[in-house]
Amino acid sequence: MSDRRTVPELMGENDVVDLLVRQHAMIRDLFDEVEESPAGARRTEAFERLVRMLAVHETAEEEIVHPYARLKIEDGDEVVGDRLAEEREAKQLLVDLERLGTGHPDFSGRLQVLRAAVLAHAEAEERYEFARLRARTSVAERRAMAAGVKAAEALAPTHPHPGTESMVMNLLFGPPLAIVDRTRDVIRQAMRGHGG
Ligand SMILES: [Fe+2]
Ligand SMILES: [Fe+2]
Repeated sequence: MSDRRTVPELMGENDVVDLLVRQHAMIRDLFDEVEESPAGARRTEAFERLVRMLAVHETAEEEIVHPYARLKIEDGDEVVGDRLAEEREAKQLLVDLERLGTGHPDFSGRLQVLRAAVLAHAEAEERYEFARLRARTSVAERRAMAAGVKAAEALAPTHPHPGTESMVMNLLFGPPLAIVDRTRDVIRQAMRGHGG
């Protein structure tokens, strides 16, 4: 079934750049899914998965990848500063859209605006940040960052397993900014646990 490609546990990538690029493709697929879902419960459910995926993906980048890139790559301050500005803009669009709700007549149009912003941002990351990060880091450094991103992802399955729903509901339902806050706490705990 097509949902399987968005199950985080199946993401075998040990290189953080491969992992994040793969997530960008999953985000694109989730936008398609929301757009193609009929209005009502199916669209709402798909949109909630998109909100979780975006919140967790961007928070993991902000906590783990951007700080490292800022230090390691040429013009790191400028490159990462531009990406953080794009992420702030996308986060605001996401919050506004979530408040609007999937049933609102403007939902589809505003979803297109969010989609364009998120995908342009992902492309800029791949071109200006991740390519340089790969060139300036070791396999071990990228593996350590991938472990941190996966720890965040494991908490935010876009397709919950039987038996884990209530934990996932508690952690990852609610407004996007609440999800971001909870994800940030979890990542910081995980990084401390790994001596980082
Ligand atoms: Fe990002
Ligand atoms: Fe990204």
